[in-house]
Amino acid sequence: MSHVGQEVLRRPEEEMSFAVAAALGVDESSWRCFLSLLAPLADHDICSYLHCLRVGIYAARLASFAGAKGVDPVVALQGGTAHDLGKLDVPHAVLHARPFGQAERQVVSHHALAGFHRLRETNYQVAVIAGLHHAFQHDPYGLEPGPSVPKDLLATTRLVAMCDVFDAVLTRVGSPGHRDPTMARQIAERYFPDQRGWGQWLAANPVPA
Ligand SMILES: [Fe+2]
Ligand SMILES: [Fe+2]
Repeated sequence: MSHVGQEVLRRPEEEMSFAVAAALGVDESSWRCFLSLLAPLADHDICSYLHCLRVGIYAARLASFAGAKGVDPVVALQGGTAHDLGKLDVPHAVLHARPFGQAERQVVSHHALAGFHRLRETNYQVAVIAGLHHAFQHDPYGLEPGPSVPKDLLATTRLVAMCDVFDAVLTRVGSPGHRDPTMARQIAERYFPDQRGWGQWLAANPVPA
């Protein structure tokens, strides 16, 4: 969010994030306070910041509208919105390195645990989601989904993780106006084959990027 005089200018993803929070009964000042956690990420890497907002929007709406059992939409909103906060600990040049090889991947992989450590004093559930969100992919890293993680938090993290994959694929391939939700859905379903209903919902409800 940027300020011109007293007027606050919000990006479309920010507007949508506030609208989704309001629909869930989260008041504007509380949500502004939560989003202030992400302000350094907006300065560090605007792509990661906007991706976080979209993943929070997807997660909250999917939890609300697609009947995700055991998932609290407000926790999904918070967890999705903060899931990549640990990218603050990854240099911008590494996040956007081309080519992106094994060395860069190794550095980026620290962001899951970094996010957990950054958030654990503020909101432990959200911290666990940030730490765990890469635990369900083919080459997992970060926290491990052990038996100490409550079932509802695990379900919420899986939902956030599927939204994360969907948004990452959707926005990295193609250009604005030429996205391919079907391909993003197919890739997300590879990691979450038991959640084809979530995949269908995501493909039918893409967030503009
Ligand atoms: Fe991530
Ligand atoms: Fe992400």
